[in-house]
Parts: sequence; C-alpha cells; structure tokens
Amino acid sequence: MSRKILVTSALPYANGAIHLGHLVEYIQTDIWVRYQKMAGNECWYVCADDTHGTPIMLRAEKEGITPEQLIARVHGEHSRDFAGFHVDFDNYYSTHSDETRACADDIYRKLRAAGLIETRHIEQYYDPLKQLFLPDRFIKGECPKCGAKDQYGDNCESCGAAYAPTDLKDPYSAISGAKPELRTSEHYFFKLSDPRCESFLRQYTSRDNGVLQNEAANKMQEWLGAPGENKLTDWDISRDAPYFGFEIPDAPGKYYYVWLDAPIGYMGSFRNLCARNGLDFDEYFKPDSSTELYHFIGKDILYFHALFWPAELQHAGYRTPTKIFAHGFLTVDGAKMSKSRGTFITAQSYLDTGLNPEWLRYYYAAKLSASMEDIDLNLEDFSARVNADLIGKYVNIASRAAGFVARRFSGQLAAASSDLPAIRSIQDAAGRIGELYEAREFARAMREIMLLADAANQYVDHVKPWELAKQEGQDGALHTACSNALNLFRLLSVLLKPVLPKLVADVEHFLNIAPLTWADTASLLATGHRISPYEHLMTRVDPKLIANLIAANTESLAPTPAPTTPPPDESQPSAVNAHAANAHAANTTPTGTPLCDIDDFMKVDLRVVRIAHAEHVAGAEKLVRLTLELGNDETRQVFAGIKSAYDPALLIGRLTVMVANLAPRKMKFGLSEGMVLAASDGEGKTPGIFLLTPDSGAQPGMRVK
Ligand code: MSP
Ligand code: ZN
Repeated sequence: MSRKILVTSALPYANGAIHLGHLVEYIQTDIWVRYQKMAGNECWYVCADDTHGTPIMLRAEKEGITPEQLIARVHGEHSRDFAGFHVDFDNYYSTHSDETRACADDIYRKLRAAGLIETRHIEQYYDPLKQLFLPDRFIKGECPKCGAKDQYGDNCESCGAAYAPTDLKDPYSAISGAKPELRTSEHYFFKLSDPRCESFLRQYTSRDNGVLQNEAANKMQEWLGAPGENKLTDWDISRDAPYFGFEIPDAPGKYYYVWLDAPIGYMGSFRNLCARNGLDFDEYFKPDSSTELYHFIGKDILYFHALFWPAELQHAGYRTPTKIFAHGFLTVDGAKMSKSRGTFITAQSYLDTGLNPEWLRYYYAAKLSASMEDIDLNLEDFSARVNADLIGKYVNIASRAAGFVARRFSGQLAAASSDLPAIRSIQDAAGRIGELYEAREFARAMREIMLLADAANQYVDHVKPWELAKQEGQDGALHTACSNALNLFRLLSVLLKPVLPKLVADVEHFLNIAPLTWADTASLLATGHRISPYEHLMTRVDPKLIANLIAANTESLAPTPAPTTPPPDESQPSAVNAHAANAHAANTTPTGTPLCDIDDFMKVDLRVVRIAHAEHVAGAEKLVRLTLELGNDETRQVFAGIKSAYDPALLIGRLTVMVANLAPRKMKFGLSEGMVLAASDGEGKTPGIFLLTPDSGAQPGMRVK
C-alpha cells in the first residue's frame, strides 16, 4: 500500500544567499523525496523562506527598502537557486503568509488554553539610540570570564563560556555602538518546564522511541537532565516592537519570536499546498494521523526541532513528527567555508561559473550518510570522483553502444539476455539500494551502484562491440551486445535517478521511454524497441572551472596567493621569514634582500587579527596552535614557531598581524591557514622572537599596508 508522506527541509533565512552548505540539506532531502515518489509513495515536499526577526528588519533598513520588499526579492533568488540545483519542492512558500499566521495563532491559543503560556517581566538590554531591545547577538562586550574583548552577548568565542548578556563587562550595541540600558518589559513564555512537557519529551526523544538518531537522542537526554532532574527552562516566545513578525493576539506591541513561527511555517506552506491541490490538511496533522511527517535539518537547530516544536504540537492537539533527520555541516577542503579563501561558495556563483549542478548532487550523495557527521567538499576529489564515476563508469556505457545501434540496426534493439549476470545483479540489488535510499545511506548506495556499473563495463570490455563490428557475420552478436549494454545503462539510470534527475530525463529521451520508476528495475526494453539518436549526456569537470569558482567567491582579499616565503612547518617557524636566503640576489637593499615593487608587496594580504585562542601542540617542539579572529566571524588556525618565546595562555586576547592569503598548508598537526608576523634575528644570535602588535584602536580584519 502506498504511504502518505510529508517532508520538509529547514526554512532558510530570508536575509542571505543560498550557499553550498545549505545545499547539503536541500539536495539530501530532494534525493530522498524523489526516491519516495519513484517508489510509488504519495510524498509531498514543502519548504519556505524564514522571513521574520530583527536581522531581517535591520537588513531591509540598511538597503533602504521595506522588509516586505526584501523578503519578496530573496524569495525570488532562493527559488531560482533551488530550481537551478533541481531541488523540486511541491511548495516553496513564506512564513510571512496568512496561512502561517493562522496556524501560529491557533497553536498559541491552544497552548494558552492548556495553561502552557505565562507572562513575566524581564530585564533586557535596550539600545537607546536605535530604540529597540537588543537580541543577544547584537550586544557585545568583554567576556566576564576571560576578559576577551568584543564577545557576543550569549557566549565567548575565546574561552567558550556561556552567560547572559547582562554579565558582559562594558557592553555596547553592535548596531549603534551605544551603551545599552537595562529596561523591564513583559514577555510571553511557553512553559517547557511544565511536567507535562517534560514527561512527553522524555518519552518522545528517547532512543527507544526512534524519532531521533542515536547521537541526537543522547544529546536530548543530556539537555533534559537525569530523570527527576528537570533541566528544561521556559522558552521566551515574544519580542517587543519594533519587530518584523506577527503580532500576538490580544497583546498589542508584542510579536512572536521568529523561532516560534518558523517551524509553524512548515504547516503554513503545506496548508497553502492543500488549498491548491485539494489535499486534506487535517489528514496529515490530526493526532492519530496514519501519514508520516519528516523534518530534515542541520545539527545546529536540533534543539528547536526536537524539543520546542514537538512539545508545541503535542500540547496544541496535533500529531508530532515521525522522525527528525539531522545532518552535519559542510566543510570545504577540510576547513570552515571562508569568504577570503573563496570557499564560501554561493549557489548562484556555482551555476554562473558554468558548473553542472548534478556534479554536486552526485558528489554530496557519494558523501552523505544517516549520521550527523560533517561532510567535506574536497575540490580535487570532487573533479576526480565525478569524472571517474559519472563519466568514466556510467555515461560511458551508453556512448559505447549507442552508435552501433543507430548506424547498423536503424536504432532498434535486439532482445536482451535476461539471464546475463550483469543484468541479474542490478535487478537483484534494486531492493537493497532502495532500502539504502530510504535509510539515507546515500554514500553506500552510490558505492553499490558504481560496483554494478563496473560489472556492466566489464561485460562490454569482454564482448568488445568495436571488434565485433569489424568482423564478418557477427551482426547478431553485435546487436545483442549493444542491446544488453543499453539495458544495463537503463537499469543503472533507474538507480541513479533520485540523484541525477535532469541527466536521467535526458536518458529517458534518448532511450525513448516513459519516465522511469523504481518498479522498472524488474523489466527490460522490448525487442524491436527504437531508441533516439544519442546526444552527449554529460561533460567532464574541467579543473579550470573550479579555479574560476574559487576566484568568483574570493572576497576583497588580494589575488590568488602565490607565496614565495615557505609556509610554516616545524623546521621553519612561521615567525621567522626566509628572506635571508635571497640576500645575494643582484638587486638588493641595504639589508641584503632583493627589491620588490609595490605590486609585489600588495600581493601580500596583511591583516590585524585577534588571538582568540592559543595552545601547545602535543608532540611539536616549537609550535603553538593559534586561533586567529579576522573579524566578520571569520577565524583561522595557524601554527606558529613561537613556543620558545611565548606562554600560550598569555597570548589569548591580544592583537597581532597575519598574512591572510598565504596558501593553506597541511602539517602533521593540522591545517595551517596563514602565518603571524614576528621579528627575530633569524640566526639565534640574539635569542628571542618578537610578535608584532598594532597600536591600540586597531580592529581585527583591518588591512596593514
Ligand atoms: N531559519 C532557520 C531554520 C528554521 S526551520 C523552521 C535556519 N536557517 S539557515 O538559513 O541558517 O539554515 C537553513 C538550513 O541549512 C539549516 O538546517 C542549517 O543547518 C543548514 N545549513 C546552513 N549552513 C550549513 C552548512 N555549512 N552545512 C550544512 N548545513 C548547513 O537555521
Ligand atoms: Zn571568555
């Protein structure tokens, strides 16, 4: 019997572009949904823009437009980006919609009727210049624990301490710079600490209940505390005007906090779809619904989806999610995406640079599992993998057989050998590969499919159509060989279709067949079936495209680095430069180093940085591991050969200068992403290494020139 399934991906914020990190989630979900649809289930995939909150309000103000104008524009951009990667929502809506408002009010009223809403007066920082209450992230100051400057109001990036904004020393508004005032205001709370919520959540998030992955269930149990020790605290769900959002019924000047109406946006989007498609909303959301509801999310937003959201649904009289699927974060070449390194890659730039979206879909599929582990986009591996698998193994099969069928047999196929081992093994594997899709074990599915493709290629290598074609009287054998090859290709196409929807649509056109479904793995093409002329299906990844992509995403910092100074390693402490080696060059200065012109100098991107963290490196004689803050939330790890001169604990918090565009270098201890500047005599005659420090007032990220 066909299942009825509703699937969501997290709603992206409407104040930023879609990037390759986001796409991990939307591609993962889209593959899963496409598999469900191919398997004959009734499956609906909805999403929306998450449009409310202070950052969106401020962003619109900065651009000189209304929030409504901003979210309308971003909705267009996001829709275009998703379509570009073949992410095929059944509805892509907005939380700023009548449906979402109606659902939010309904849930709010039911929770209030259940006695789970409470008001309380709280003290909060207020920006007297901007005249608004400041979200934690918009208050900065000195860490109460370690004294690091310019820390956010919720936690310290230097020592990791968590605290309330009111604990910061010398707080200031990150919007206006003004000193914030404490003001009292009435807030609305969802009573998550209520025993009803606690007992429901204990059961709902338990490992046995199976809603969450084991690692997520463990984390939730930690958040809940040991039985008897209820660690849940009530959740502040209101914000004061001015705020871009929905006003709370009967509470003028109070708005739902963005995270209250965001998940309700899933319902709003689905309600809108139901109205258009004649679906029954209640069938999907009533408490005893036999339909299934799945949320795909990143691990960073687990708390909202595994605690707040199910507790709201449960106590407002709705069904709760069947399962919550959390995935890990994307790194590029082993590091966090970075604007200055060009690895903060937007969806749009990827498409504009001319890269094929299905390359990325395949690469992600080849990396994704059901776990919450981070996944790495290694750009070299990306080209190699796509070229070897998609071109070398899969498309290759068709291109080897199609020409002969067209030229020698007027495009008509002979009967396939239904007992051919290569054919039988694909048909036998189809069920298992379907289960791997269902279980989100895409990497294992891709591995199995490529093994089957290897066997298909071995068959073609073995029968050698190109030789049969030259031999007298081998027409029949050639015809069978090519027909078998095209049947193998068709079967592999079924298995890859959730990942490569556009390519397989082209294959369907080429094979002249109806859209493939999972059940088609059981059948073969009929004798005499006529195929269309073969057209090129997919090109190889050209490494030049990758270089262009990085260049297109490299922000402001100098051109692609080509360091002449050796990057740091154990024998060459980063603090000591290697200019001495050039001392005998013809064109030298009084210090004996060759002249360089201003263009040469400007190639070196020197930046003021704050040492956010410093520590000894186990097993390294000279190195200290530094975490450097470049401003704009960007950090770098650098190994510096300064252990003999500095105690790491004393470095934390101070400013220095780094080379920000030095090519990252893999060291025994990890990736070194630049170097810090220090003076020394280079020969150890005068002992000591002297780290540079800018005059006070310099800020992380400022360029030095
Ligand atoms: N608006 C909230 C979600 C509300 S859902 C009711 C939000 N938006 S987001 O734009 O920041 O992120 C959207 C999704 O993309 C989240 O699930 C998030 O985890 C995911 N990702 C964002 N950056 C990512 C990576 N670098 N890597 C993998 N996933 C990432 O959170
Ligand atoms: Zn601190």
